[in-house]
Amino acid sequence: MFNVEDIRKDFPILSRKVNGKPLMYFDNAATSQTPQQVINTLVEYYSNYNANIHRGVHTLSQEATDLYEQARQKIQKHFNAKFSHEIIFTSGTTHGINLIANGFSSLLKKEDEIIVSALEHHSNIVPWQMLCEQTGAVLKVIPMDEDGTLIMSVFDELLSEKTKLVFVNHISNALGTINPIEYIIENAHKAGAAVLIDGAQSSPHIKPDVQKLDVDFYVASAHKMCGPTGVGMLYGKEEWLKKLPPYQGGGEMIAEVTFEKTTYAELPHKFEAGTPNIAGGITFGAAIDYMNGIGFDHIASYENELLEYATEKLLQIEGLKIYGTTKEKTAVISFNLEGIHPYDVGTILDKLGIAVRTGHHCAQPIMDFYKIPGTVRASFAFYNTKAEIDALIEGVKKAKMMLS
Ligand code: ALA
Repeated sequence: MFNVEDIRKDFPILSRKVNGKPLMYFDNAATSQTPQQVINTLVEYYSNYNANIHRGVHTLSQEATDLYEQARQKIQKHFNAKFSHEIIFTSGTTHGINLIANGFSSLLKKEDEIIVSALEHHSNIVPWQMLCEQTGAVLKVIPMDEDGTLIMSVFDELLSEKTKLVFVNHISNALGTINPIEYIIENAHKAGAAVLIDGAQSSPHIKPDVQKLDVDFYVASAHKMCGPTGVGMLYGKEEWLKKLPPYQGGGEMIAEVTFEKTTYAELPHKFEAGTPNIAGGITFGAAIDYMNGIGFDHIASYENELLEYATEKLLQIEGLKIYGTTKEKTAVISFNLEGIHPYDVGTILDKLGIAVRTGHHCAQPIMDFYKIPGTVRASFAFYNTKAEIDALIEGVKKAKMMLS
């Protein structure tokens, strides 16, 4: 049974005060909060198992190695990858994207084309621009509509035999739009292109099945999924990961090193140079267990309820405009009050203990599309409540009154 009051007891931070008021945390798209069960895993690791992995015959090293590899298997199972060696630990989504971009630098030639979408986060724009500069490849963009949906007829026109890669986020961090990734993957494959899906914003809300999607690469971050910062995952189909060169050189990614020549380790170690974030990886596994314990069906239906409730109430405020109004969206609301800078609204809300993100949300092209400097963004998680949303609405009304 899903009981939000019980769930909230798992999150110690939710009972703290900010500016003398109970914290109301609506910045979940930036980072999620961490339940005690997940915090305990981190503490237990450093209290009992701390050692370097894959390197020692001693007991601690073997125990830490086992825990780390078990976490990889949890991630494999969660995303339904065929093999655990198709899961590469990264420092987060941005690292995963850069790893793939770097890998493709030797596979692309002048005038090959890469397609991204108008809804991308900067981390899914800048690495491809850098790749285009290196290789002479050309970046094409799927445009968006006023309601924040991608225009698929233009995507169809952009696809050609020149298209080598398509990179799209599963869910827009700035607007919450859920993109039609099944359509994108299927049609990109028909054109012979590989597809990377940025799952940073979807993985907290949806359980993706990478085999069913038939996606080539999928990336996500633990800290958006009730896990720690500084760790994430890259899924890559075995055939692709074998084909791509290593990203970084160093210890543990080699088979043999001489001054004449180095051969590389098998997957996944080929992409995991240096001592990884061992504690983070193990704790990521605990976060996945925690979220599956709540259940992604429960999470999705409860968050949709919050989204509908908040949207309806916010729209009753005169002069408030929501950006990203498609029905295909997750629990993110980006909005502005007419004539008021989003930063000022965010500052007043903070004084009331309410955390939202303000600004361009690392998605400046979206703000340029709407010709605005930024938005106020309230992003919900399964531990938010309708009472908190009522307080948010009152806070926005108060901000409007003070700033008009
Ligand atoms: N990408 C994160 C956000 O949307 C940081 O806020």
